[in-house]
Amino acid sequence: MTQVRVAPSILAADFARLGEQVHAVLDAGAHVIHVDVMDGHFVPPITLGPLIVSSLRDALPDDTYLDCHLMIERPERQVDEFVRAGADGITVHVEATAHAHRVLHQIREGECRAGLACNPGTPLAWHETLAGAYDLALLMTVNPGWGGQEFIPEALGKVRALRETLGPEAIIEVDGGVDVDTARTCVESGATWLVAGSAIFGSEDPAQAYNQIAAAAEWG
Ligand code: DX5
Ligand code: ZN
Repeated sequence: MTQVRVAPSILAADFARLGEQVHAVLDAGAHVIHVDVMDGHFVPPITLGPLIVSSLRDALPDDTYLDCHLMIERPERQVDEFVRAGADGITVHVEATAHAHRVLHQIREGECRAGLACNPGTPLAWHETLAGAYDLALLMTVNPGWGGQEFIPEALGKVRALRETLGPEAIIEVDGGVDVDTARTCVESGATWLVAGSAIFGSEDPAQAYNQIAAAAEWG
């Protein structure tokens, strides 16, 4: 099984203190920083773009993995900018493009890990059809668009099924509603990367919150 990792999502961070807050979780042991990009179309909110990725790339150690989750329509138009900004992984939604196979190839051409995401209501058929074209599967455990939502446990059925299909080495990421209580069931279901936003940066002590979730996750 690939290594379990907890990926703090900066969506819940205080952007006026972003560098300080990210360094705090890196010092606590995090390696993967999750960056939620929203365009006001695929999901209603607008969040951030390649400028922030580029600033983080410059400010953070080289071995920090910037995991960019694009909740944007037609991501094929934006992927190259995220590559240039210094992303390590770029994840696109199957619901957001008619050209999932092409955009995954485009991400790999940029020497980034190609991720394929789907919403809780989307069947696994895309992930099964495209297996081999992506390096990471992201299964949403909330409907994308906002932090702080309630975990949808039914989504774990897809995690279990995809783990069965892809085998032990695949990276399966879950995103939304992950906290110290839900982390363990995610790992038991076969998830290896766990995104956590408000449970980490919404807490008074993000480093301690990271450690508690990582401890709960590693139990699995
Ligand atoms: C939601 C985003 C998530 C978000 C998770 O659309 O993709 O990454 O930051 O936030 P929490 O952990 O608060 O549910
Ligand atoms: Zn996300």
